[in-house]
Amino acid sequence: MDSLIIRGGTRLDGTLRASGSKNAALPILAATLLTGESCTLQRVPLLKDITTMMTLLSSLGAGALRNKEGVVVVEGGSVQVFKAPYDLVKTMRASILVLGPLLARYGLAEVSFPGGCAIGSRPVDLHIRVLEAMGADVQVREGYIVARAPNGLVGVDFTFDTVTVGGTENAVMAASLAQGISVLRNVAREPEIIDLVGFLRAMGAQIVGEGTDTLTIHGVAALQGANYSVMPDRIEVGTYLVAAAATRGRVKIEGIVPEILSVVCDKLRHTGACITEGEDWIDLDMQGNRPRAVDVVTEPYPGFPTDMQAQFTALNTIAEGTSRVTETVFENRLMQAHEMKRMGAEILIDGDSAHITGRLSLQGAPVMASDLRASASLVIAGLVASGETRIDRIYHIDRGYENIEGNLQCLGADIRRIST
Ligand code: UD1
Repeated sequence: MDSLIIRGGTRLDGTLRASGSKNAALPILAATLLTGESCTLQRVPLLKDITTMMTLLSSLGAGALRNKEGVVVVEGGSVQVFKAPYDLVKTMRASILVLGPLLARYGLAEVSFPGGCAIGSRPVDLHIRVLEAMGADVQVREGYIVARAPNGLVGVDFTFDTVTVGGTENAVMAASLAQGISVLRNVAREPEIIDLVGFLRAMGAQIVGEGTDTLTIHGVAALQGANYSVMPDRIEVGTYLVAAAATRGRVKIEGIVPEILSVVCDKLRHTGACITEGEDWIDLDMQGNRPRAVDVVTEPYPGFPTDMQAQFTALNTIAEGTSRVTETVFENRLMQAHEMKRMGAEILIDGDSAHITGRLSLQGAPVMASDLRASASLVIAGLVASGETRIDRIYHIDRGYENIEGNLQCLGADIRRIST
């Protein structure tokens, strides 16, 4: 099993290029099941979760391959298996995203109840309810969601009780091939939803309203193959920006649309960071100064992203002043705080909030990653700690960050991967 060894204390300084977005690429890969034609996807990141989704597509019969140039091609022609098995689904919650496309195109899908990060109970009731509202018969048998719609799905007017990214994605994919018009209300407005709609539209889907809380979809009889480039990963970029701020350093990130990080950049400005932006780059410079503590409350987009909460918790542990970080999207997502306390951080957990008193420094320690973004926050803590930090169970980080140690080495960090 791999671990990361970090010797903290270096100010990060340098330039990186953003990878393609994991959370956009996953639903886009699932959406390729909606057509029998081949789809070509550029800028699909090289990540464990992406490999899992490609293996899942191949196991269904839709051959998914990455060519020498890094372009992913999915041949949708020969799907004959309609079951997403437990062994694949347990490692990645986003496997649930094949449910809507399989059901809409073939009238049949069996998907194991998902696993993924251990951040609360994370039900999939809304994915199921919206598909039932479209006419599917959904049963739960032996740990599997078994959904049938032998006569196809029908358009629906559906309001989500809770804003759900994955639920919105499953619904919009299914509605694209349903008979008639669907109006989906209180949907997620995340940029990754806009990217998925962009791909579906390139396949011939008729959708309006992406980026607002209502999506209207005119179902079509068939979709065609498409060539599409996945958007940049705003969470990866946000993580490197916070890492640079925490180490009092500087980083320029290229290949990113600054607007999709505006809330994160505003928070970073409050820490004292000097941020400049161009059409497709962001530059952050702490000018050697210690960051100031900032309060954070997570919310669905356009609010502060839950996927950046752990990284800001890490920054606040060494910032000047006290702060409160509140998690409202997921339960049980402050687990990184316990590991940071082992590094000398002063954090008090009170329900869904962490109260943090900034220290001048942390001390390196052996720590354990508990989920994807928590792992990233421990890397940031290790970068600002004195001495050596060893992070175990980093398979979590490999699910969502392409070559994190290589990128941080480029910025001057003393970080290496070891296999034990
Ligand atoms: C996606 C992202 C994840 C991010 C999250 C919130 C991907 C692959 N993952 O996860 O990185 O942290 O959005 O921005 O894109 N819920 C229900 N019932 C449901 C579905 C969700 O109650 O049927 C609840 C969840 O428990 C959670 C909240 O809704 O409390 C938001 O979850 P959701 O937006 O669905 O997250 P994911 O799509 O799993």
